[in-house]
Amino acid sequence: MSDNQPTPDGVLRLINGYWATGVVGAAAAHRLFTHLEDGADTAGHLAERAEISERGAQTLLDGLVGIGLVELAGGRYRNTPEASAYLVEGKPASLSSFARLKLKHMGALVTLPDVVRAGGPITDPATEVADNPHWEEIVPAIAAQSVPAAEVAAEVLSLAGAGAISILDVGGGSGIYSALWLTANPAARSTQLDWEPINQIARRLLHERGVADRFTCIDGDFHTTDFGSARYDVALYSHIAHQEGPEGNVEVFTRLRQALKPGGALVVCDYVVDDDRSGPAFPLIFAAEMLLKSKQGGTWRRADYRDWLTKAGFEEVSFHLAPPATLVVAR
Ligand SMILES: C[S@@+](CC[C@H](N)C(=O)[O-])C[C@H]1O[C@@H](n2cnc3c(N)ncnc32)[C@H](O)[C@@H]1O
Repeated sequence: MSDNQPTPDGVLRLINGYWATGVVGAAAAHRLFTHLEDGADTAGHLAERAEISERGAQTLLDGLVGIGLVELAGGRYRNTPEASAYLVEGKPASLSSFARLKLKHMGALVTLPDVVRAGGPITDPATEVADNPHWEEIVPAIAAQSVPAAEVAAEVLSLAGAGAISILDVGGGSGIYSALWLTANPAARSTQLDWEPINQIARRLLHERGVADRFTCIDGDFHTTDFGSARYDVALYSHIAHQEGPEGNVEVFTRLRQALKPGGALVVCDYVVDDDRSGPAFPLIFAAEMLLKSKQGGTWRRADYRDWLTKAGFEEVSFHLAPPATLVVAR
């Protein structure tokens, strides 16, 4: 075979990609990364700590070595630096609960061929049902992923030194942005609009971070709840635009423009694709998640955001990378 001939390796790795989701999700479910971090370094020790079979522990360790999350040296296993930073429970950037959640989501993918034929969900769309347990599961699991974006946004808006500003977080979820921004700026106040059970989750986080006294919640649907007029210095719409269609986004952006004080800034955080749809890879692939879970959502182009924000009355639009997300800042 000549060097230029393709091999099936890459395609086989993709076809079997669910093995990786399964191995990482099961290892997270049994807290293997946390036990490895705490010094359990053989299949026997891990089996004992995690109260699982030794055969199961050895199989997960083999799989984790295979996918590059665990290293083996002299018969002892340990987390790679990546697994140590992102899969050990209790660390600020831990994706451990997200790994467990994605394993649960995997089954829904068998409907994707039918969803593609139909052009949208063939059961109730997860993103559009009020008080859907989907959100209660997903919101704490994705909080860690918003940390880098919240930090980039704080930098872009110079939030720490902005004084007594008021912030509106539409669909704030875990409340992670408010938690970080109110910590960075001790004079700021924040209001989160989300479903009632989700706001309870956010209140707990803000309380844990010691900033709950400057945090208010509005329970309700952001499609129908009044945002008020000239009330906020900063408005935030993070990982919501992808669940909405163009009309929905223009409608919310228009009401957010009205809710902002003159000179106020709207921050949209989302997986944004290039105008020619050639990249980046993560937002392109994430569109399948929205086809599966929303009637009109998708991953939108920079040009779409520019167009919708202009229609909504914003005059300046800038883009700031917070990979795999992009921040769109509009004034
Ligand atoms: C993907 S999460 C994003 C959470 C947070 N903004 C972040 O970036 O980490 C979407 C959030 O929007 C909320 N949400 C979705 N549709 C909503 C609606 N119609 N009204 C109020 N909240 C909604 C969900 O409850 C959830 O908290």
